[in-house]
Amino acid sequence: MTSNVPTLENPSYDNLKSADESHQMHGFGHPYMQKAPKSLIVFESGSGCKLKDVNGNEYIDCLAGITVSNLGHGREEIAKVAYEQMCRLEVASNQRNLTTQPAVQLCERLAELSKRCFGESFDGARVYLTVGGAEGIEAAYHLALRYWDKSGIMGSSSPGYWKKKKIISLRNCYHGSTFVPASLKPEFSDYGWHRLTEGWEDSKKEDNTLKFFSSIDAPHELFFNKNNIKKGENVGQAAARMLEERILEINADEVAAFIFEPVQGDGGAVSFHPDFFPLARQICDKYGVLMIADEIMAFGKTGKWFGMENYGVAPDIVVISKGISSGYLPMGAVIYRDRLWQTAMNSMSTKMMVSDIWQHDYTWSGHPTCCAVALKVLDIFERDGLIDQAAVRGRRFLEILKDKLQGLTLVKDVRGSGVMLGVDLTSDIASDVEMRMLLEKKIVLRASSNKHCLLMTPPIIMTDDEFSQAAEALKDILNSWGAFGSAAMAKPRQW
Ligand SMILES: Cc1ncc(COP(=O)(O)O)c(C=O)c1O
Repeated sequence: MTSNVPTLENPSYDNLKSADESHQMHGFGHPYMQKAPKSLIVFESGSGCKLKDVNGNEYIDCLAGITVSNLGHGREEIAKVAYEQMCRLEVASNQRNLTTQPAVQLCERLAELSKRCFGESFDGARVYLTVGGAEGIEAAYHLALRYWDKSGIMGSSSPGYWKKKKIISLRNCYHGSTFVPASLKPEFSDYGWHRLTEGWEDSKKEDNTLKFFSSIDAPHELFFNKNNIKKGENVGQAAARMLEERILEINADEVAAFIFEPVQGDGGAVSFHPDFFPLARQICDKYGVLMIADEIMAFGKTGKWFGMENYGVAPDIVVISKGISSGYLPMGAVIYRDRLWQTAMNSMSTKMMVSDIWQHDYTWSGHPTCCAVALKVLDIFERDGLIDQAAVRGRRFLEILKDKLQGLTLVKDVRGSGVMLGVDLTSDIASDVEMRMLLEKKIVLRASSNKHCLLMTPPIIMTDDEFSQAAEALKDILNSWGAFGSAAMAKPRQW
């Protein structure tokens, strides 16, 4: 029930909570989370790695906003850039032959960065600007389709390349909540391709040749079905073999792309066996399948600019977002090799017809204020050596986390790649832990959608002391659960 006094006139906690219950629908939310007494946290301000709510409580932000705020909260030097750009030119179109200075500069900078990190294959890389992650994935997929469509003689799809439309992903992934990204996650059933297959007979549902979106197990010991590992294979080799088998099962002529996160974020900071990506690269080259790296969360966090650098493998298309603006404004980008651009956008047929445009854009693509902020964030990353810091600080955070948590009954694994840290639990109680950490300990972290992992992505600038407090609090919560073992046993791991 909404109170009669608008929250603009009386923004007290009770008033805000009541209005929130009545009017706001939260992403990944459940009405219970909103309605339970005191369960709603209304943040009011942030500084460094701390957040404050409207009741004056202080929180340690181990989630960096929403896995974005690598540089921490409240930096005036970034806000100033936004202010100045807004005063100069807040927005202009970035469509067709229109653009702005910050948009061009950001594209140039990202192209240079990708060449620096991935080498010659990214020489002359092209950048399409977005403001978020899922829309970057949609654009990457659209670009892959266009690339295959134009891959025939003189930019035609005559040899049947138009058939290359299907896409393979990894289980336990998260690529976003719009239709294509949601379809890439087999565990999501409410929306996307899986919803459309409801009503299919069971035999068809399991038939990979009929599916537009199919997936294989992630190449990590805890996420791969061991029955599928052949004698003499490690998990990376087994997953690569399964990727090849899946391409052949579907028919290589119909597979457009393979998409993956270098480190699964929502999945619980899961990085992969080092053998997997080099083999996957060979397989994708052999069968003409584009590799799309979803670096939306990993960008700037793993101790390298791009997570894929950790495996020494260059993908074909890279999608980034989140940390590129450290959360100060929404921002994202799709970076792709010039080779793809030449075929997709500069083929003989396209050259002859101005009307052969790429039917894709977002109103906010290349927003000059967002671009100016992203440029400033990249400057700060370079100035303060924050990529190396992410590696150093991440190693320290992992040590602290292992020291506090390893050996606890409820803990199966503690892992990390830079400042992406994960705790794998023996029960499906991750959401309960998330709530208790927030409400009882005033620590922000996230439960994975697989229900048994916790994700922490602290700002790179977090201190040992702040992180230790968070780890200690997590130990307390998990230990208290140990004392009520039955509560945890009531939610055994489903997979
Ligand atoms: C790896 C990855 N891909 C895609 C997305 C979706 O990004 P957005 O929420 O900006 O659409 C996310 C968001 O958490 C993500 O972590």
